[in-house]
Amino acid sequence: MAVIANNCPDIRVTLVDLNEERINNWNNADLSKLPVYENGLSDLVKINRNKNLFFTTNVQKSISEADIIFISVNTPTKIKGVGAGYASDLKWIESSARTIAKYAKGQTIIVEKSTVPVRTAELIRTILKSSVEKSGQYSSKKFSVLSSPEFLAEGTAIKDLQNPDRVLIGGDDNYAIEQLSLLYQKWIPKNKIFVTNLWSSELSKLTANAFLAQRISSINAISALCEETGADVREVTKAIGADTRIGNKFLNAGPGFGGSCFQKDLLNMIYLCRYYKLDEVANYWEEVLKINKWQKKRISKLIVEKLFGTVATKKLIILGFAFKSNTNDTRESPAISIARDLIENGANLYIHDPKVSESQIAMILGGDNADKDSAEGSWQFSEDLEKDCKNSDAIILLTEWEDYLKVNWEKISKLMRKPSWLFDTRGIINQEDLVGTDLNFWKIGKSFFKTNENI
Ligand code: UGA
Repeated sequence: MAVIANNCPDIRVTLVDLNEERINNWNNADLSKLPVYENGLSDLVKINRNKNLFFTTNVQKSISEADIIFISVNTPTKIKGVGAGYASDLKWIESSARTIAKYAKGQTIIVEKSTVPVRTAELIRTILKSSVEKSGQYSSKKFSVLSSPEFLAEGTAIKDLQNPDRVLIGGDDNYAIEQLSLLYQKWIPKNKIFVTNLWSSELSKLTANAFLAQRISSINAISALCEETGADVREVTKAIGADTRIGNKFLNAGPGFGGSCFQKDLLNMIYLCRYYKLDEVANYWEEVLKINKWQKKRISKLIVEKLFGTVATKKLIILGFAFKSNTNDTRESPAISIARDLIENGANLYIHDPKVSESQIAMILGGDNADKDSAEGSWQFSEDLEKDCKNSDAIILLTEWEDYLKVNWEKISKLMRKPSWLFDTRGIINQEDLVGTDLNFWKIGKSFFKTNENI
């Protein structure tokens, strides 16, 4: 919405949320308090806030004044009831539709921005239709429902929105489609705006994420094979990525994909397939998730094995807790499952991340055990890497923050207990950077013995 406001000075954009604290933070003069950290976002908020970009909890007024409403609420995986563990929970979509039905006036275009299962627009339409029927034949309310899913990735969100590969508009009301298209055309070339039917648009979003996730599971599966055979996954990636049919993007082997979307959307897709009795299709996509889970487990197991089969009471440094760099988001971060496994094995972790706060980690891993760091199985927040690396047994790089490329390994390795280890699960550290150190080095997708011999 900040990008829309920035590109369309003549359009008034209002963000409404029931959560007062969140809205207060969006209105905070101190831009470091904005609820979301995203490169370039605070600048856009600063330029446009209270000009044509507003944040408010006044839902009723905002809805009644709106011509277009974007539903952008959470659709997490259901944790209980029918479809638990797979289906998306649509309770916030439903309640948004009911609130819109109640307060909207005149003609209103409703745009599904949230990622939803196919045919969710039907649910929204039914709720809106019944409100019009209830208001009687003289009702001035008129609704059109469109689907326009979001393809931005965290960390590059502003860039992705400013210059998208494509924008989808799914629907069957030509007037509404034209209105939304005109809005996007303020900064996006018309040939990048694809109009489809509602269901294709909804399904395209799930399919795009399923394909992207599948690509990561595929390369991660190959990374394990590389480690066994003496191949280097980065060389393989370069070789296959040069084939224009495959392409070179989104092929970085790592500790498994995280984030709030891939797993949720795959689970949702699997649920849909099972619902339509397409069990083979469901099983196919389920394997993508299985490999992802396996990759995380494989890494924590491998760390324990390399450290003489036990990490109990050992001091391990974790570099990065966010699910990827340039975000403070930790949802489904591979670091969570790897840290939990190591703590369960008795390790004492020192967790460092340039953007994730100690309290955020505490909410996930439970309160830290700073006062009993000699005990087994604890974690502490690390603010001073050099200080914390003292007497540590291993450093485990889990998020590809640029800061970690600047670490002085020679200095750090001297502080560690011998034999000391560096595990690079993102494959961003070069062997040359370790010259002059006595670090044992494991890098994702490259045979351990070969690498180690060379250092
Ligand atoms: C993803 C999609 O990329 C967006 O197109 C989509 O709009 C978004 O989900 C969504 O549905 O909202 P996001 O989850 O923000 O975006 O981040 P990605 O860049 O896709 O990364 C997801 C995970 O895959 C991260 O843990 C990342 O480290 C991992 N990854 C990504 C790899 O391990 N290797 C790669 O080559 C790329």
